[in-house]
Amino acid sequence: MRRKLVAGNWKMHGLKADLSEVTAIATAAGANPSVDAALCVPFTLIAAAAVAAGDMPVGAQDVHQAAKGAHTGCISAAMLVEAGAGLTIVGHSERRADQYETDAQVKAKAEAAHAAGLGVILCIGETLDERDAGQAEAVVTAQVAGSLPEGADAAWLSLAYEPVWAIGTGRTPTEVDVAAMHGAIRAKLTALIGDEAAKVRILYGGSVNGANAASLLACADVDGALVGGASLTAEKFVPIIEAAASLSQA
Ligand code: 13P
Repeated sequence: MRRKLVAGNWKMHGLKADLSEVTAIATAAGANPSVDAALCVPFTLIAAAAVAAGDMPVGAQDVHQAAKGAHTGCISAAMLVEAGAGLTIVGHSERRADQYETDAQVKAKAEAAHAAGLGVILCIGETLDERDAGQAEAVVTAQVAGSLPEGADAAWLSLAYEPVWAIGTGRTPTEVDVAAMHGAIRAKLTALIGDEAAKVRILYGGSVNGANAASLLACADVDGALVGGASLTAEKFVPIIEAAASLSQA
């Protein structure tokens, strides 16, 4: 049985004034020990959020693949660890689109993060054009194959299926489509890493909120959620953690 993981991605939101939300979310996470929760915050907030979060892991949203060097504006995995991060997102579609990140770079970032001791949430997902063209599963499984790090292991790696057209739009795929895609991702993982694939958590992300979390999290092969807008406040995020917890106790 895979423990559910509910992770927030604050994207480019969050100042010290928001640390009270981190603490409130961490308190709720502590009250729901049947699920894992985490918050991935901007680099500048990691150190303070790690203190505010207590036992709940705090993560980053990106990491550079190199250990050090002439990479102006970038952050290494060791820097994230020193700041107090326990994990990082890699390959978010906003970085694949805005920073032109390739599967090969995403793979290298995941490997660098793991080498430094960080957990990794690796994102994949198709665009609306790709879905409309009937290419969604082919695109996503190719992303899995291209960006899966060496030594992929459920102890430190989760995948997050985030259809680009569902991010921040209020639109979500049907439960049938979610289950079909997560099943296809799991099948691809099995082809790549064998039995370990059954242990790897596959999160769903894209317009998850307190109202739809229970039905999305109940889909076959959905092992948690990666949440953007609805993770910014305890008021919106805690119901998602609680939805995951109630499924985990059932
Ligand atoms: P929203 O939950 O705001 O749609 O964002 C999803 C996402 O991109 C999480 O990484």
